[in-house]
Amino acid sequence: MAYTPAAIPPGYRRESMSEERVAQQSRLTGMDELVSLCARRGFIFQSSEIYGGINGFWDYGPLGTELKNNLKALWWQRVVRERPDVEGIDTAIIAHPRTWEASGHVEHFTDPMVDCRSCKRRFRADQLDVPCPEAPKKRQASDCDLTEARNFNLMLQTQVGASEEAASIAYLRAETCQPIFTGFKRVREAARQKIPFGIAQIGKAFRNEINPRNFTFRSREFEQAELEFFCHPSEREQWFAHWRDQRLDFHRELGFGDDHLRTRPHAEDELAHYARAALDIEYLFPFGWQEIEGIHDRGDWDLSRHGEYSGKDLGITDPDTKEHYVPMVIETSVGVDRTCLALLANAYVEETFEGGETRVVMRFHPSLAPLKAAVLPLSKKLAEPAQRLASDLRKELNVFYDDAGNIGRRYRRQDEAGTPFCVTLDFETESDGKVTVRERDAMTQERISVDAVAAYLLARVGDRV
Ligand code: GAP
Repeated sequence: MAYTPAAIPPGYRRESMSEERVAQQSRLTGMDELVSLCARRGFIFQSSEIYGGINGFWDYGPLGTELKNNLKALWWQRVVRERPDVEGIDTAIIAHPRTWEASGHVEHFTDPMVDCRSCKRRFRADQLDVPCPEAPKKRQASDCDLTEARNFNLMLQTQVGASEEAASIAYLRAETCQPIFTGFKRVREAARQKIPFGIAQIGKAFRNEINPRNFTFRSREFEQAELEFFCHPSEREQWFAHWRDQRLDFHRELGFGDDHLRTRPHAEDELAHYARAALDIEYLFPFGWQEIEGIHDRGDWDLSRHGEYSGKDLGITDPDTKEHYVPMVIETSVGVDRTCLALLANAYVEETFEGGETRVVMRFHPSLAPLKAAVLPLSKKLAEPAQRLASDLRKELNVFYDDAGNIGRRYRRQDEAGTPFCVTLDFETESDGKVTVRERDAMTQERISVDAVAAYLLARVGDRV
């Protein structure tokens, strides 16, 4: 269900509102404007900001949390709830350390790393096109006095229990899918599922990235939404194609146009240690085409390895043919934070009006927008009925209330928050029982009866999540 805002019409305007005609529209060109809007409006900001921040960690504020929750809810709806052949779970972040030996992460989950002998910084050996922050005269890390490359394991370690012996070392999960594999037998039996079927979860993952960068794009703590779909070896290609198409549709549904979305198959030498085939779904960020989701054919790597390391048989017996086999796995793995970043970049539009004034408007699809409507009384004298309306609407929708400052400025604040509708009470509301509803993108205004506002908004906001 695509959302297409109306073209800007000459349309009806309340007399008190100035005529606003857009002369020029531009999309986001660099990241600075977006990073500053995200901090200012409370979408996303540096974690531990008052201590100077901590590299690779980010906090979501009130608007960012709503946006992210809406995105996760839509994924859960499409991938889990609408599918009789997918079960959703929620597992612990810390798993038995053998999990990560079996999965291959202890041995293979490494990036090549180099140190600079003079500035003492660390860089990824395959990404030396980053500025060296400690040496202003040297423009790039590649100009530093670098050591030979060595492998650096990206898993974050912690200690479980009171003792500090090597035996108590555990890892924060580097991908959310491993507990899906270790729980495969239990979940299949509990849910009485037959092959083919999938297990999905959304949750935090942690990687000690050498160079976190591009805002939240490469972080050390992030969320993944992963589906592991188990099938018979003869059906691998068919399910890979099925999930590739499903996931592309999902990104289109988020509002990403075909000019900003593409797929990129992995060459054999870039495949992860577990993958037999892989395809990235990429979004065109201001810093270039980058992966937001990976579709992988993991073969029987995970179930076979966990079977071997645990001594448990994770194969299944086909009830009809009695064939015993280890199922193959098709995985879809999307970064929640990366997709949020793509949603923010995609929504950002700067408009210049004919009079020279400008506004920034975040054109989220209404069903993903953090706030669905703002109730704005024209004057503080109208605060009481306006607050009553806001609290009625809150039973159905996420609604904001604001009676501070002039109405034009309040509209601009909601435009930056991406709120699709503003509901304004004026001095006629008491006599005619109507309010003005302004639509964010086209800025059209409609007079609507107070009693009908909830139904009007619900119909336009959509009920996808
Ligand atoms: N289980 C498979 C797996 O983890 P991946 O390609 O390493 O595959 C999947 O990661 C997705 O997780 C990526 O497409 C990306 O969206 C997200 N992701 C991975 N590393 C990330 C990081 N350091 N920061 C933010 N998101 C990350």
